[in-house]
Amino acid sequence: MLTIGVLVSGSGTNLQSIIDSIEAGCLDARISVVLSDNPQAHALKRAEEHGIKTCVITKKELPKREDYDRRAVEVLNAHGVELVVLAGFMRILSPVFVRAFPLRIMNIHPSLLPAFPGLDVHRKAIESGARFSGCTVHFVDEGVDTGPIIIQAVVPIRDDDTPETLRQRILTEEHRIYPEAIRLFGEGRLTVEGRRVRIREGRFPEGVLVNPAIEDE
Ligand code: GAR
Repeated sequence: MLTIGVLVSGSGTNLQSIIDSIEAGCLDARISVVLSDNPQAHALKRAEEHGIKTCVITKKELPKREDYDRRAVEVLNAHGVELVVLAGFMRILSPVFVRAFPLRIMNIHPSLLPAFPGLDVHRKAIESGARFSGCTVHFVDEGVDTGPIIIQAVVPIRDDDTPETLRQRILTEEHRIYPEAIRLFGEGRLTVEGRRVRIREGRFPEGVLVNPAIEDE
């Protein structure tokens, strides 16, 4: 069974989807600790409701990024964490952290990387005029939203979309792909070759998506 540590800053709906997958027997993992930089994060309540240990380290306690990250690594190691799962953790990790867990940190990002890294991505996707956005689970490297991509879901952008309506539809897909990426990792099916992640016995879909749909087909 895979032991994971989940890092959160906010609402924790992705954390919830992971908890739900574990409890439904779809993901053979155990969350040994949920760590947050924000004592008000609703994600902490979700963890507590499911009897999961929580830990808060605020920026105020350890203002220097490296000190913060060193402490976080200590906490994760003390809880036997094999895979670090960033689920809406709104801090950039320093090399101190990334090097402590090489190819053992995953992040979810609400765009089709490498398009739209960073923040405010739903608005940026709409304003770009793109017809598709989506979400990405990737391994974390020392860049921002740059690591090898594990799984993506494509979400069409509609003419009447606002950042909020798009965010909601993408979030629904996040909740499907994050537990799946963790499952593939736990089953030892992911290997990284350069920038590419290969998936042993991966199921790759046929077909294409066109948006808007071609009307006479
Ligand atoms: C999610 O949409 C996640 O993709 C995003 O924060 C949200 C957290 O929601 N992460 C990032 O933008 C990271 N760059 P949640 O707390 O409900 O899981």
